[in-house]
Amino acid sequence: MNDPTTSGAPEAEVDGGVLGPVRVERVAESRLPSVDFAGLPFGSVFADHMLTLTFDDGAWGDPAIVPYGPLSLEPGVMTFHYSQSLFEGLKAYRDRDGAVRLFRPDLNARRMQESCDFLAIPPLPDGGFEAALAAYLSVDADWVPDLPDHALYLRPIVFSVEPHLDVRPSERFLFVVLGSPVGSYFAPDSKGLSLIVEESLARVAPGSGMGAAKASANYTLSLRASRQAREQGYDQVIWLDGAEHRYVEEAGLMNLFAVIDGVIVTPPLNGNILPGITRDSILALLRHWGMGVEERLIEIDELIDGIDSGGISEVFAAGTAAVVSPIGRIAYRGRDHDLPAAPEQGLAEGLRKALTDIQYGRSNDPFGWSTIVVPASGAQA
Ligand code: COI
Repeated sequence: MNDPTTSGAPEAEVDGGVLGPVRVERVAESRLPSVDFAGLPFGSVFADHMLTLTFDDGAWGDPAIVPYGPLSLEPGVMTFHYSQSLFEGLKAYRDRDGAVRLFRPDLNARRMQESCDFLAIPPLPDGGFEAALAAYLSVDADWVPDLPDHALYLRPIVFSVEPHLDVRPSERFLFVVLGSPVGSYFAPDSKGLSLIVEESLARVAPGSGMGAAKASANYTLSLRASRQAREQGYDQVIWLDGAEHRYVEEAGLMNLFAVIDGVIVTPPLNGNILPGITRDSILALLRHWGMGVEERLIEIDELIDGIDSGGISEVFAAGTAAVVSPIGRIAYRGRDHDLPAAPEQGLAEGLRKALTDIQYGRSNDPFGWSTIVVPASGAQA
């Protein structure tokens, strides 16, 4: 097999915890000074380095941090044929002291292991995910922006690198961590997101459980519907369950919440829905604040009737990239249903602020969710 990673003489090593020493090959010149952070489109710029770890001969090994760049892969590699690939998404935040923080990376680690299990990919060693992120950030820490609402979005990915055409689980994989500096995912708009209810396509095969995995293929399935939504002037779709097209499941690439008669309701994790880390954190915050929360099925008719009658005061979407985004309009069966303008004192804004205050280390963190991975320069580790 070709070595798919850029190889070169190692310059140094960094500590990779359970992964062992990580060989480091640094870029000759950083691209950081050329990056214009103002209005950076999501995911359009990549940091200098990437971390790679290979699964070969039945074990994960050979951790390396190398310049971000092309991989050399044969066209016979199974990923291209059978989509045995997954990803994770989380952000590294710069706090006011200059330290780099992660938010609940243990949940991303657990979800990745579960996605691996679902896709017949061997899991990383316990603690390997967190160790890989820490090693990667020790090299690309300067790429974590020191700007309001900005972060370094981290994309851990796992995919087959075995050239083989038989339909069976691959025996060779690559795990890569790459970083991309980002600002707000959606341009701030007081009107909120506009979504159209998708009644014919489905995000996942109902009952397959696949919706709970962060499988790349789930995002492939969303592409046609989101293109159609944009063509009709909407930001994204509302996914309904694939069996009956009756129950609300997700808002585009995010989890969905509605405030129905004063109770905050979100669909339950039934295998069709991604167990979002922002979703889980919102539920924990709301319960901590003593607010009424329900994880239950929401019929699309209940959502639309509630918006029309005023019983639903807010609908919002939540995810790592977008944090908490108010929804201003939902189109269903040819009619637009508008929500009241997202109030500044509203729940969505309150949650966004509470979450980002913890993520950026600006407030008390009663749950211990935010951890420093790279201390402010000069500080003690
Ligand atoms: C995230 O919020 O991290 C996601 O995975 C959504 C995305 C594909 C931008």
